[in-house]
Amino acid sequence: MEKILVTSALTYANGKLHIGHVAGSYLNADIFVRYQKLIGNDVIYIGGTDDYGTPISLKAEEEGVAPRIIAERYNKSIKKDLQGLNIQLDNFSGTSRPRHIKISQDFFTNLLEAGYVTKKTLKQLYDKKYKRFLADRYIEGICPYCKSDGARGDQCDNCGKLIDAINLIEPKSKISGETPIIKETTHWYLNLPKFENELREWLKIKTYWKDNVRNFIFSWLNEGLKERAITRDLDWGVPIPLENTKGKVLYVWFDAPIGYISSTQEWAENKGQPDLWKDYWLNPNTKLIHFLGKDNIPFHTIIWPSMLMKQKYPYVLPYDVPANEFLNLEGQKMSTSHNWTVWVEDYLKYFNGELLRYVLAANAPETKDSDFCWKDFQAKINNELNNILGNLANRTFIFAQKCFNGKISKPEVLSEQSQQTLNEACKIADYIGGSYNNYQVRKASRLAMDIARIGNKYFDETQPWFEVKKSKKIAEETLYVCTELLRIISIVYSPIIPKGMKKLRKMINLPGKISWKDLDKKQIKFEISEVSQLFKKIEDKEIEKQLELLKATQTVEEKIMEHG
Ligand code: MF3
Ligand code: ZN
Repeated sequence: MEKILVTSALTYANGKLHIGHVAGSYLNADIFVRYQKLIGNDVIYIGGTDDYGTPISLKAEEEGVAPRIIAERYNKSIKKDLQGLNIQLDNFSGTSRPRHIKISQDFFTNLLEAGYVTKKTLKQLYDKKYKRFLADRYIEGICPYCKSDGARGDQCDNCGKLIDAINLIEPKSKISGETPIIKETTHWYLNLPKFENELREWLKIKTYWKDNVRNFIFSWLNEGLKERAITRDLDWGVPIPLENTKGKVLYVWFDAPIGYISSTQEWAENKGQPDLWKDYWLNPNTKLIHFLGKDNIPFHTIIWPSMLMKQKYPYVLPYDVPANEFLNLEGQKMSTSHNWTVWVEDYLKYFNGELLRYVLAANAPETKDSDFCWKDFQAKINNELNNILGNLANRTFIFAQKCFNGKISKPEVLSEQSQQTLNEACKIADYIGGSYNNYQVRKASRLAMDIARIGNKYFDETQPWFEVKKSKKIAEETLYVCTELLRIISIVYSPIIPKGMKKLRKMINLPGKISWKDLDKKQIKFEISEVSQLFKKIEDKEIEKQLELLKATQTVEEKIMEHG
């Protein structure tokens, strides 16, 4: 049995959950965790909200409330939406909870004492109108490396390079829209260059990491690591544990990943075993796996491991960082500020969470960006879930009830065709397991649907509606094989569409609780009951409505700037 600690990137608590979050770091993690649980591994799934940073304090100012109120509001809302999609974290915390402060401060102190943090006075961009130093995300300008427009103060989304805001060409404050001035301040820096050799050594054995992730890291390393400020002038964050540092906090990106640990601590406390978190974090055999979107790669593969390496506790380092690419929407880049996204809360007013799980899994941005579009959503539900999988269940069960009173037994000998069909399904089930293990959700989904395709083809070829008139036995054999295929499908598809598969199992009178090993437990008898449609078809008008809503709520750039 393996010990696995899975995390999803902590979502900023300044807005609701949208499908980009789901496709980027939640659904893939949830599917992986469900599979690991099925094969009997000891896995916990940890997450929460990233509560600090400027976006939240600005929103709070706008609304005239304390930042904590905003963080708590979105923490609740995100948690609820995740539940609506049946994404089952073992713990969902938030980084503004008291427990998180102490451990974040310890991280800072340990790095400082070990000689990896240095204090410096520097020049920074300052918004005169709003009287504040500008956090990286609140500065926009031209990337000094690739010269593309719209680079943020910390990173360029176009070339992926980290940027020091002061080097941006033509910087603009996103809060006031004005050109910021340069002002002096004091900050603490993490001495990343000092970690280079250790990092390279550690990364040497990570040959199994996804190519997109490895390429990213090595291009970073080869450019040479730079010192990174880990503090900010802000009042909303973890205070620096040093004298005379009022108004300065740890940079949100420094404390955020520590949230994975504080959330695990919260989980252990809630379980009444407060030291249990150590079994995972301080165990060299734990496989620590971080699910995240590609924009979070450098922080999790360079900065976070460096932070972990110099602590007093011997923390485990990331075992894998399966980063996803981005999900676009209707062919356009998703953008929350332009409201060009699908909010999970809205989605759930119209459709079942299972359907979104299915479509986002089949279309996961695993190796390249992918696109969510409503017409494709409808096509996948209608043509695959309904016409292939739903159809196999429906025709098999209806027939079994009509001609066999729902009772189907395994024939003494199976025809060669039947045997081959079952063997084929077992072979595919093995591949599916391997795909889940390699974070290849798209492939797993396609293969699981292939089993249903094989079932329909077999049904057509064996013609039970025709055979039943001559020999009930031959027809029963077809129904037996098809039900057995559906039983296999109910296991292999359960990480992706758990509720639908539970429903399917109920129709075959099989227990809801399953393990991957059940694949080998061939049934000799089935009793089919309570047959109903597995998934509902989606009408054209339902999709038109979504497209209208999407366009109607899209905001244009000008509006955003006005709001400031
Ligand atoms: N909140 C960040 C984002 O959405 C991710 C933080 S991941 C963590 O991009 F590791 F730092 F928690
Ligand atoms: Zn760039």
